[in-house]
Amino acid sequence: MLVVDLGGQYAQLIARRVRDCRVYSELVPASITAGEIARRRARAVILSGGPASVYAPDAPSVDKGLFEADVPVLGICYGMQLMAQELGGRVDHTDVAEYGRAELEVTDEGSRLLHDQPREQVVWMSHRDSVKAPPEGARVVASSPTTPIAAFEDPERGLYAVQFHPEVVHTPQGMQMLKNFLYEVADAPPLWTPAAVIEEETARIREQVGRQRVLCALSGGVDSAVAALLVHKAVGDQLTCVFVDHGLLRKDEAEQVVETFRKHFHVPLVHVDAADRFLARLAGIEDPEEKRRRVGEEFIRVFEAEAEKLGGFRYLVQGTLYSDVIESGGQAGVAAKIKSHHNVGGLPEDIEFELVEPLRMLFKDEVRRVGEELGLPEAMVWRHPFPGPGLAIRIIGEVTRERLEILREADAILLEEVRRAGLYRELWQCFAVLPAIRSVGVQGDSRTYAYPIVLRAVTSEDAMTADWARLPHDLLQTISSRIINEVPHVNRVALDISSKPPATIEWE
Ligand code: XMP
Repeated sequence: MLVVDLGGQYAQLIARRVRDCRVYSELVPASITAGEIARRRARAVILSGGPASVYAPDAPSVDKGLFEADVPVLGICYGMQLMAQELGGRVDHTDVAEYGRAELEVTDEGSRLLHDQPREQVVWMSHRDSVKAPPEGARVVASSPTTPIAAFEDPERGLYAVQFHPEVVHTPQGMQMLKNFLYEVADAPPLWTPAAVIEEETARIREQVGRQRVLCALSGGVDSAVAALLVHKAVGDQLTCVFVDHGLLRKDEAEQVVETFRKHFHVPLVHVDAADRFLARLAGIEDPEEKRRRVGEEFIRVFEAEAEKLGGFRYLVQGTLYSDVIESGGQAGVAAKIKSHHNVGGLPEDIEFELVEPLRMLFKDEVRRVGEELGLPEAMVWRHPFPGPGLAIRIIGEVTRERLEILREADAILLEEVRRAGLYRELWQCFAVLPAIRSVGVQGDSRTYAYPIVLRAVTSEDAMTADWARLPHDLLQTISSRIINEVPHVNRVALDISSKPPATIEWE
């Protein structure tokens, strides 16, 4: 299924929803030609919504041949208007824009797209222009009070169009409409499963690398873990993983990586315990960006030295995701660079390896599903995002061995209690921060002078914005008293109740 991107945020969401229906989908630019669509052997095409008016001078358009091709086309919102305009219908500016909830009435029971749908239902609209006349031969199949032509179709010519957004959750029947289009109209059965992805990707990796050796930097995060497992499944011991342990991970995380990969999956793994080197490089450093720079630099040094020692690798695995590919306009190399830029623990820009990117067609939630299918432990599949420089940027001040130990213990208690309360998956991130200051307390008969621990728990969709999580008071109480009682050198626990913006998720 090809989703033609006509601007706005809708196209990506449509592509994801199609995949949720277990049909493989890809985003393509509006410049795609009918010939290219035929060559790609697409089962159908969806024209996405977009913010433009079809009358705007720079409004995106599509190859008209697309509507005459053999594959059915579904136009959504702007896609519908474009279809109507290109095929001799009429689109008008309306005086009132229609945003949000609308009552839809299915007016034609013979509709293929709205087959077996409730006659009246709620849909979500977001448009200013409206179709006033469908293309000749097309039947209007649904309407709303403000939008008399809310859907039309012409099954003979394979044309389907809706003014509302079936891809958003505020259109409760939207997924069923997409399924009608995919399974019945387009004859695209639900075969895109994690198992199918694994089969396809492993075949592709085998073909790409042949008998050559492949190197992979494991971080403990879900992307590199799933990428490594796919490559290992494809070419077995031709893969060597290098896990640079910078000593800035959370409690027990390094052991978990080694245990999982070496013992459970039997993946050849080199565990480089470089904690001392990183600590030495961080000595005396308080500036967050300087910490990041040093951790990043040291990571590259250690990794390169290790790669050289092991020798003879032609390929390098990168956990580039489809969202990185889309953001970078579809070029593999650029995407890889963006990724390594974001992740300290990324690799130098002048790498001499050829890249293997087994996740480059997957969204994050699909990576998780593939991870589950491959048998990756739940704790790794669902792990919260964790910054490359790790705990170094959660100690506000100089990073020392003692502070790392304190932070690790406090953080482990926080996570243990959040998991026990069943809230881990509801949070985007949840962690402890150690500001390197001391405050006065009293314990027994004597005064203490010790560190505070700050708890940070946020909900978010994509880390661009975040809200502080309303953790239950009883849970906070348990966490606070456990940390103060069990972690030496801590006499105070505070809760961060700032949203992003204006605060950030991390403290540095
Ligand atoms: P902020 O703190 O900017 O974080 O709200 C947004 C997301 O990015 C993560 N983050 C980092 N990830 N290296 C990383 O790999 C970094 O230096 C870094 N700084 C922040 C943060 O954990 C959150 O998920």
